[in-house]
Amino acid sequence: MNFDANSLPLQRIADDLAERGWSVQDAFLPASLTAALAAECRACDVAGTLAAAAIGHGDGLAVREGVRGDRTQWIEPGRSEACDRYLAVLDALRRQINRSLFLGLEDFEGHFALYPPGAFYQKHLDRFRDDDRRTVSVVLYLNPGWQEEQGGALRMYLPGEQTLDLAPFGGRLAVFLSGDFPHEVLPASHDRLSLTGWFRRRGDSSF
Ligand code: OGA
Ligand code: MN
Repeated sequence: MNFDANSLPLQRIADDLAERGWSVQDAFLPASLTAALAAECRACDVAGTLAAAAIGHGDGLAVREGVRGDRTQWIEPGRSEACDRYLAVLDALRRQINRSLFLGLEDFEGHFALYPPGAFYQKHLDRFRDDDRRTVSVVLYLNPGWQEEQGGALRMYLPGEQTLDLAPFGGRLAVFLSGDFPHEVLPASHDRLSLTGWFRRRGDSSF
């Protein structure tokens, strides 16, 4: 599963972020890597390690199914070859964004997410009120053969009351500035799988 990171559209993503704050790339990874990540997300579901997602953090952490209905599993380096390959790609993307936008992104945190049929995530911003380290949101969709009619779009709220609906097609990568774009996940008729995460800056409180 070797591939050349230079062939990935990292500069295009950085340019999109600089110009308008968001970017979408279809077939972002080699198909074999997307398939391996999708299989791993499925395996987490089968093994029962996906847990009801929470909102907020620290003392404010709470599970509220009326806000978001996905189940998640955080990923750490070393958990699998596929995840490590993806994390390496993301690290190259992080450095590219830093070179182009001077955002000072330091690290990445991310999780597999599975939205069962009917589940959604209400309109929100990917920044906590008391912790603004999350700076760039990165979502990789893991749904082979997804049809638009199956729903599950990521609805982005753009400036000027415009909205943009992105279907969660397998292999599609959505990247956006976390603090600038309210967004929501619409319900789907089938399980909706993704690997979702955030590039973070150093926080004032993390001395
Ligand atoms: C999130 C989120 C978007 C998506 O997990 O914060 O907004 O399309 N996910 O899964
Ligand atoms: Mn979000």
